[in-house]
Amino acid sequence: MEKRYGRITGWGAYVPEKVVTNYDLENIVDTSHEWIVQRTGIYQRHVAAPNETTATMSVEAARLALQKANLAASELDLIIVATTTGDHLTPPVSSQVQHMLGATNVPAFVLVTGCTGFLYGLTTAQQFISSGAYDNILVIGAELLSRFIDWNDRSTCVLFGDAAGAFVLQASTEPCGVLGFDMGSDGSGSEHIILPATGSAEPVNAATFAEGRHYLRMNGREVFKFATRILGQTSQRSLAEAGMTLTDIDTIVPHQANLRIIQAAARSMGLPIERFLVKIHKYANTSAAAIPLAICDGLDAGEIGLEDRLLLVSFGAGLTWASAVLQMAPTTETAFAAARTASLEIAELVSA
Ligand SMILES: CC(C)(COP(=O)(O)OP(=O)(O)OC[C@H]1O[C@@H](n2cnc3c(N)ncnc32)[C@H](O)[C@@H]1OP(=O)(O)O)[C@@H](O)C(=O)NCCC(=O)NCCS
Repeated sequence: MEKRYGRITGWGAYVPEKVVTNYDLENIVDTSHEWIVQRTGIYQRHVAAPNETTATMSVEAARLALQKANLAASELDLIIVATTTGDHLTPPVSSQVQHMLGATNVPAFVLVTGCTGFLYGLTTAQQFISSGAYDNILVIGAELLSRFIDWNDRSTCVLFGDAAGAFVLQASTEPCGVLGFDMGSDGSGSEHIILPATGSAEPVNAATFAEGRHYLRMNGREVFKFATRILGQTSQRSLAEAGMTLTDIDTIVPHQANLRIIQAAARSMGLPIERFLVKIHKYANTSAAAIPLAICDGLDAGEIGLEDRLLLVSFGAGLTWASAVLQMAPTTETAFAAARTASLEIAELVSA
């Protein structure tokens, strides 16, 4: 079988209309715009309206991506929704999204690896395409963390925002899509980012509720140390798998959790910060949505192009990490070269 690649033919992102600035947060908790900007690089975040859910945000992003790909939802072979904040513990939000899109009977599943979810999803989708099992796959990263954070806890409530981002992958024989990847997990750090009383280990009850154990808890310093260590390591592994080095990469798209983490990654990779796509000032940390949202924003702004080689790199709850070398569309040169070879072959056949 000819080698198959997952070309990104559609992309779309959604952020809720409501913007909450750092100044707004000064009225809620003991914080300041200056502290938040200096420690995180965040200026504002988008927060979902009461009638919005992870499913509705996912559908908004997915419709844009399908429209861009010129593909009907019914033509999809698979839907993957990466999220930690699905509408319910069960049913899986992926089935709600599948139904709302009108993708009748299309298989759909949720992938829960925290902020790395979109990269895990993208890589998973790529495998289904490479194997020949499926041709058209929708991958969504969506997160509605504003409903899971304690708005009285200044150490977490300033950090997150709500959003969704989606990619459509379609089978192609031209080299593009995920060209190399790396994923990993270290559960010894599971306590560092946790929603304690939301699962079977600690079902929510009056006592857990009174203690606010249904809200996100985070050991910021430990996560910070982990992130600055792992970003460079996983990036090198993805590059090696793609047979590339950092000089082959046009832009690095890191997880958007803290500008200082991105700056530390830039220093450890020996690269200027300008090589990194940074959108954290506008959206804060939108977890599984952060990378597709940054890419959509970067494409709209003309900061990146479809033929650019991107290094996507993320870390998150678990603790998990993931990275991928991504080229959304095949290079025109490659396409020309392929066309040239084909026409030469035809010429040879004709003259023979
Ligand atoms: C959370 C984070 C911004 C905190 O920054 P930091 O420089 O590590 O700050 P510290 O936790 O050391 O806290 C320093 C002080 O600021 C205070 N502080 C914390 N949040 C504050 C806020 N929003 N406003 C003002 N002060 C705040 C702390 O209480 C502490 O005060 P103290 O020294 O009197 O105890 C940072 O650790 C971080 O980004 N970590 C990674 C988190 C992450 O990436 N999470 C997502 C994973 S996907």
